[in-house]
Amino acid sequence: MKLPSVSCLLLANTTLAFTNERLNKNDSLLLILDLQEGLYQVARDWDHATYRQNMFAHAELGRVFDLPVVMTTSAETGPNGPLPGEFRQWYPDAPLIKRQGEVNAWDNAEFREAVIAANKSQIIVGGITTDVCVAFLALSLREAGYSVWANVEASGTTTELIRDTSNDRMRHAGVNVISLFHIVCELMRDWRNTPGAKEIFPYLDQYYPVYGSLARAHRGAVNNGTVVPGEADLP
Ligand SMILES: *[C@@H]1O[C@H](CO)[C@@H](O)[C@H](O)[C@H]1NC(C)=O
Ligand SMILES: *[C@@H]1O[C@H](CO)[C@@H](O)[C@H](O)[C@H]1NC(C)=O
Ligand SMILES: *[C@@H]1O[C@H](CO)[C@@H](O)[C@H](O)[C@H]1NC(C)=O
Repeated sequence: MKLPSVSCLLLANTTLAFTNERLNKNDSLLLILDLQEGLYQVARDWDHATYRQNMFAHAELGRVFDLPVVMTTSAETGPNGPLPGEFRQWYPDAPLIKRQGEVNAWDNAEFREAVIAANKSQIIVGGITTDVCVAFLALSLREAGYSVWANVEASGTTTELIRDTSNDRMRHAGVNVISLFHIVCELMRDWRNTPGAKEIFPYLDQYYPVYGSLARAHRGAVNNGTVVPGEADLP
C-alpha cells in the first residue's frame, strides 16, 4: 500500500485547522439593503410569493433578536420605489439612508457612518439585486474588515446563473453565504435562551413553515394524540 506523502499529511492538517466564526447577536448589525417595492419584481430567481415572505423574514430578524438595523434605498423616488411600509414602521428610529445615486451603498458617506456608528463586527445583509447591490456592498464591507453574512434567501436577481455567479464571487471574498434558518439558529444558539423557543417558534411558523408545522404537529400529538396500530409496531 502506498503511504500518503508528507505534503499530503500537511495539507490534511491545514484542512483540519478551521476556525468556526459564529454569528453572535451581540456583535451583529442587520442591513435592509434596497428591498424596495419597485425592485421586488426584479427578483426573478425566486417564486414571487416565497421571495416576498423572504424579504419580510429578513427584515423582521431585527425585531426578533433586537439587533441594530440600518436601512438604505437606491433612488427611491424613481422606479425602484420605497421600502415596504412595514419595515419603516418596525424600525422608526433606525437610520434610513436614501441614496441618490451611489450603486454601492459603501460609496455613500452617510451610510458608511451609520454602519461604523453601530460598532458591530458582523453584518447580516440581504437585498435586491444579489449581483449588484448585495455583492458590491459585501465586498466593500469585507475590504473594510467586517465579517459579512449574506442571507441567501433574502436576496434576489434575474436568473439563477447570475445569482450563483455573484454568490461565488462573494464566497471567494470570505462572505458567509447562508440560509435564513442558519442565521436564526446561530443567533438563537439555544432553544432555552431568550429569544428562544417561545419567540422563535412563532417566527418560524410564519417564515419557515416546515418547522412551524412540525411544532404544530407535535402540539397536536401531545394534547390529543393517539398512536395508531401501524405506528406502534415501528422500531
Ligand atoms: C451576549 O451578551 C450577554 C450580555 O453581556 C451575554 O450574557 C451573552 O452570553 C452574550 N451572548 C453570546 C452569544 O455571546
Ligand atoms: C464598540 O464595541 C466594542 C466591543 O463590543 C466596545 O468595547 C467599545 O466600547 C464600543 N465602542 C463604542 C464607541 O461604543
Ligand atoms: C381529540 O381527539 C378525538 C378523537 O379523534 C376528537 O374526537 C376530539 O375532538 C379531539 N379533541 C380536541 C380538543 O381536539
